[in-house]
Amino acid sequence: RLAEIHGLVSGRLRIAAVTTAEYFVPDLLGPFAAAHPGVEIELAVENRDRVVERLTRSADDLAVMMMLPTDLPLERLVFQDNPLVIVAPAHHPLAGRRIQLEALAGERWLMREPGSGTRMAAEQHFALAGFAPRVAMSLGSNEAIKHAVAAGLGLAVLSRLAVSSGWGVGTADAVSASRAAAAEPADARAAQTLEQTVPPSTHAEPGGGPLVVLDVAGFPIPRRWSVVWRKDQPLSAAAREFLRYLQAPQHAAPRAQVADQI
Ligand code: PGA
Repeated sequence: RLAEIHGLVSGRLRIAAVTTAEYFVPDLLGPFAAAHPGVEIELAVENRDRVVERLTRSADDLAVMMMLPTDLPLERLVFQDNPLVIVAPAHHPLAGRRIQLEALAGERWLMREPGSGTRMAAEQHFALAGFAPRVAMSLGSNEAIKHAVAAGLGLAVLSRLAVSSGWGVGTADAVSASRAAAAEPADARAAQTLEQTVPPSTHAEPGGGPLVVLDVAGFPIPRRWSVVWRKDQPLSAAAREFLRYLQAPQHAAPRAQVADQI
């Protein structure tokens, strides 16, 4: 206990994160790992269904996810917002306009694979809105979806985090600016990725990236990130320390709270 207070926690910290959390969990782990060199961190990145399966068999100390299962004895700490947005190719005719979801009824939609929490959240939201998307394709990763949207294969619901990481989104302003002036994507690695996978016409649409977030009523879907753990198992010292670290003001959402019950 005294060792913990002085930051001398050691041991293993096993964390499972859903795939969309891969955009920020490693960044969160960096300073924690630096402050606790005695903690050996194992991070597993899987989609929502697989993370739930890991929780079922208590494979990890903690799991970072958005769509929590309701049938497991879990505690949770909500620590960050995770808005889900509709992304389109930057040259989409409705980019920069405020629209209703029905305006997108004629579109083709790209969904994450069954088992993805992003897909589950999108489906729940569409069902509540009475909207039946024409699903053209399922893809097994956020990056594959971003490239497919940029290539004009359809629209998608993605975490804003996924969209803004690496090459990705232009705002409506950036889109019109990009029509006036062509520029190279800032990051050389991103540019290379674009060249390999995105058709030249899309590549020529810079100003923040080949994607745009559409301004659709009811969006973004206001989801949040939680870290969860089994309440029927003792938390390791390293896991307790990580939870304390997550509650530091720079990480915690204003509404961060520990709930007894999910
Ligand atoms: P996923 O994750 O779409 O990467 O599965 C989202 C979630 O379940 O929280």
